[in-house]
Amino acid sequence: MAIKTFIHHIGMLATPIGHSAHRGKEQADVQILKDAWTAVSEDGTILAVGTGAYPQEYDQAQNVIDAEGALVTPGLVDAHTHLIFGGWREHELALKLRGVAYLDILAQGGGILSTVRSTRAATEQELADKAGEALAMMLEMGTTTCEAKSGYGLTTEDELKMLRAIRDLQGKQPVDLVPTFLGAHALPEEYKDNREEYIRLLCEEMIPRVAEEHLAEFCDVFCETGVFTTEESRTILMAGKKYGLIPKIHADEIDPIGGTLVAGELPAISAEHLIRTRDEGIEAMAKGGTIACCLPATSFYLDADFARARDMITAGVPVAIATDFNPGSCPNLSLQLAMNLGCYKYRMTPEEVLTAVTLNAAAAIHRADTIGSVEAGKKADLVIWKADNLDFIFYRFGNNLVHQVIKNGEIVIDR
Ligand code: NIG
Ligand code: FE
Repeated sequence: MAIKTFIHHIGMLATPIGHSAHRGKEQADVQILKDAWTAVSEDGTILAVGTGAYPQEYDQAQNVIDAEGALVTPGLVDAHTHLIFGGWREHELALKLRGVAYLDILAQGGGILSTVRSTRAATEQELADKAGEALAMMLEMGTTTCEAKSGYGLTTEDELKMLRAIRDLQGKQPVDLVPTFLGAHALPEEYKDNREEYIRLLCEEMIPRVAEEHLAEFCDVFCETGVFTTEESRTILMAGKKYGLIPKIHADEIDPIGGTLVAGELPAISAEHLIRTRDEGIEAMAKGGTIACCLPATSFYLDADFARARDMITAGVPVAIATDFNPGSCPNLSLQLAMNLGCYKYRMTPEEVLTAVTLNAAAAIHRADTIGSVEAGKKADLVIWKADNLDFIFYRFGNNLVHQVIKNGEIVIDR
């Protein structure tokens, strides 16, 4: 088979190995190869990985990349973002500094509802252009696959517009996108006194339309005080399931009202945030095989507690880490920052965090078969770092330590 790309002189190749999420002690099982190389076939998948001597013909590859002794990891997978939105919300910073709570801003018609107004006012093209700029920055920082949620439209047409903007960006730039329908992100103002009707609209109109146009793979709900209850969340996620949308849930972000119990029971592929998750929520996720998608940069920005990621690992819940990029609770695109915080605040080891942003993140978006590790048969999505060992990229923070990003075996970022 013809070799498209051959990368050699890798000082350290650090990667989890496998096709499903790693839990418990396995979360720290990272294969470390020194003096490694990898060959990528014409179709952009990894053909072979090895150390030391390599078959001579690999030198004849179309592209030969000398990693110059650097650290190489899988491309980073951001499993939770609100990538598509109109406007920003920098005016909320002053409110936050004065101590106004996140849910109070929302209850006063600001927060998510303010982004809903700017998103409704934007065209599909404007939304795609804005998200394209964000994706370019994410790629620079090592993200090669990104989940993207709707949820700032909250009418059928505006939700479809957001999901179509995600579809527009697919293939037009290097980052692979994975779409999630989050019509249950907030109760729109026009349904303030008629929540049953909005839930009916979600279940009977929006979800069927999203499924019919194949615009999303997952259905998500913001299960939270003043937003959607556990019963409503269950109803909406069950409706999604009926139409082939895999359940995800924003649970225990501000108040532990039981979203993780719903997650374990359905089961949801992942439960997200988990800032306030208690023992019974951890047990429910362990029982349901739900992946805990923790978002430490959101805790940092909201000045909230940090999820009990260590306890989740001990209980056998696979932990993923994502950015939660959004204009309100986490205007940050850097998965590297989330990785640093995962290490410093969750007290996860560099190996555990690496698994959290690669293989486990891939599993949280149902992609563990094709991405999330550097091994034969997976897509050749890799990061070559400005570092020669894994600890270094966790020890340094506040800098972009990416040297090169390889997508499907081709250099897409070189800095
Ligand atoms: O994941 N929690 C709900 N949704 C987002 C915040 C959205 C916003 O504030 O615009 C989150 O934190
Ligand atoms: Fe979120």
